[in-house]
Amino acid sequence: MKYLIDLNDEANFLSPVSVKMPDGYVVEDQHTVLMPEGPRKNLTMTDSIMHKTRPGADAHYHEHELGYEIFFVDSGGMDVYINDQKAYIKPGSILFLQPYQAHGMFFYDDTKYRGFFHDMPYGDEGEAGNLLRQHYPDFMERPDFPKEILPKGDHFLREPPYRVKETPPEECTAIRHRERPMASFELPGATFKMLTGRWENSGLCELWCFELKKGFKATSYPFPANTDLYYVTEGEVKFKVYDEEFIAKPEHLVKIPMYAPRSFEALSDAVVYDVSGAPRWYAYLQDREGILADPERADKQETLETLRKRYGVHYNQLGAE
Ligand SMILES: [Fe+2]
Repeated sequence: MKYLIDLNDEANFLSPVSVKMPDGYVVEDQHTVLMPEGPRKNLTMTDSIMHKTRPGADAHYHEHELGYEIFFVDSGGMDVYINDQKAYIKPGSILFLQPYQAHGMFFYDDTKYRGFFHDMPYGDEGEAGNLLRQHYPDFMERPDFPKEILPKGDHFLREPPYRVKETPPEECTAIRHRERPMASFELPGATFKMLTGRWENSGLCELWCFELKKGFKATSYPFPANTDLYYVTEGEVKFKVYDEEFIAKPEHLVKIPMYAPRSFEALSDAVVYDVSGAPRWYAYLQDREGILADPERADKQETLETLRKRYGVHYNQLGAE
């Protein structure tokens, strides 16, 4: 089992695809890293380079009927057209797209565009699709490939955006950044910041940014029910999964399967995103604040433990707690 996924190691790309315009210009080099899991098609990940949009090119304005898209914009710069807004997205930001939000993109430079998806009918062909792409990378351009056998995607093309309002990124709700979290909680040695709410993800997950101080340590219960998917963007974090220890650095994903006992420790100040967002962190951290403010309940260790179990928070040690 491989827990650490280095996004700069091409060996982690399952089916490299170049998306080309009719004249051959490559608009996207898409690398699938993680295939969907379970009925909600959770934890799908693609690591794309979106190439500079040519002047006058179509922004490919579209909607999804089912799928949620979360893009970490990690280099370059881009505009998003969303509903009637147009906003600039700087690196370090996250673009969060929900079903029926019409969106299109304009890339000013080649941009690392790291997508995490759920509820998206993506990869329905499974291994068969990977094999096809490996053997015939240009199958879509072949006149003898019967396109009607491809699974129907979740892509509803719209007319190009007609009237758009230039909008500062902080006023565009689709653009999230850890500089402006929806909620923020202090733990001993860490700040946990919420970037998307569970109610915005049809109940499946939340997106959190953990800003860790050097030395912060979290240890799970022995057999957690959650799969964790972490994305490290700053610093170094030592993980232990079962008996295996490894160090995650920027541009690394860490995927930990359910049941696996796990812990992590910040070896330096670090920034880690909890992308799977399985625990009900928001409920736990909100309720925890109230309990800690009550001297009678705050002293009882089992009170917080009861809360963690109620909300599926699978760590029994978070910092010095
Ligand atoms: Fe989309």
